[in-house]
Amino acid sequence: MVPTLSEDLHTDRLQLERWEEPTATPVLRRLATTPAVVRYVADGLVWSDLRIREVSARNVEHWRRHGFGWRLVRLAASGEAVGFIGLNFAGEGVNVDPNEYEIGWWLDPAVWGRGLAREGAAAVRDEAFDRLEAPSIIARIQPPNAASLAVAGAIGLTHDFDTLGRTGEPAAVLRLTAEDWRASPRRASPPTIAGRGSPRPAGPAAPA
Ligand SMILES: CC(C)(COP(=O)(O)OP(=O)(O)OC[C@H]1O[C@@H](n2cnc3c(N)ncnc32)[C@H](O)[C@@H]1OP(=O)(O)O)[C@@H](O)C(=O)NCCC(=O)NCCS
Repeated sequence: MVPTLSEDLHTDRLQLERWEEPTATPVLRRLATTPAVVRYVADGLVWSDLRIREVSARNVEHWRRHGFGWRLVRLAASGEAVGFIGLNFAGEGVNVDPNEYEIGWWLDPAVWGRGLAREGAAAVRDEAFDRLEAPSIIARIQPPNAASLAVAGAIGLTHDFDTLGRTGEPAAVLRLTAEDWRASPRRASPPTIAGRGSPRPAGPAAPA
């Protein structure tokens, strides 16, 4: 049986929940149909409803198979859902090793610029190294996406190599190794975890 990490992560201002279709799909629909949000995602076009439903279902399956995945981000104070931060295996077709642990972030433009992506991403980064024992994490970011590059830099990732994404778009691959994370003075205090212990995930790479 695949162990699960279904517990929420908590930071000062955020709650990061396991991806579930009823709660996450409407938020994905809202963000994936907002041009400013998807501007630097793949071909930069808003998503069809079919794609939204497929990606949401795939994120549920990633959690089921591997015990980790993308998380719905809520403001702790109000419970309002404002986006996603998560980890996935890179999977096939993106010009990186499919077994790479990839981190990513999407937030509603209404909450940009308040340090929330940095805060949530730091918690997910620590989950990757503390609980999942990832050897390294990567982020794939289009070079003009200054905000995303800044988030990656703020949590300690640095440029590794350049490649192309799924739709042929230029993408920079940034990386942080577990070794560098352990040695980093920027290492945050661990996020609090509600619930049970800290099992490792199992299994090979997921579909992207
Ligand atoms: C990327 C994104 C999640 C950033 O969210 P955010 O909550 O506004 O980011 P933060 O407020 O935590 O900022 C983190 C850092 O980025 C910097 N930053 C934020 N927006 C920036 C911008 N537009 N240009 C340059 N730097 C920016 C902040 O100054 C901060 O740097 P610091 O830690 O050195 O002070 C948000 O812009 C977003 O959802 N974009 C659309 C989806 C997307 O492109 N996701 C990434 C795909 S690879």
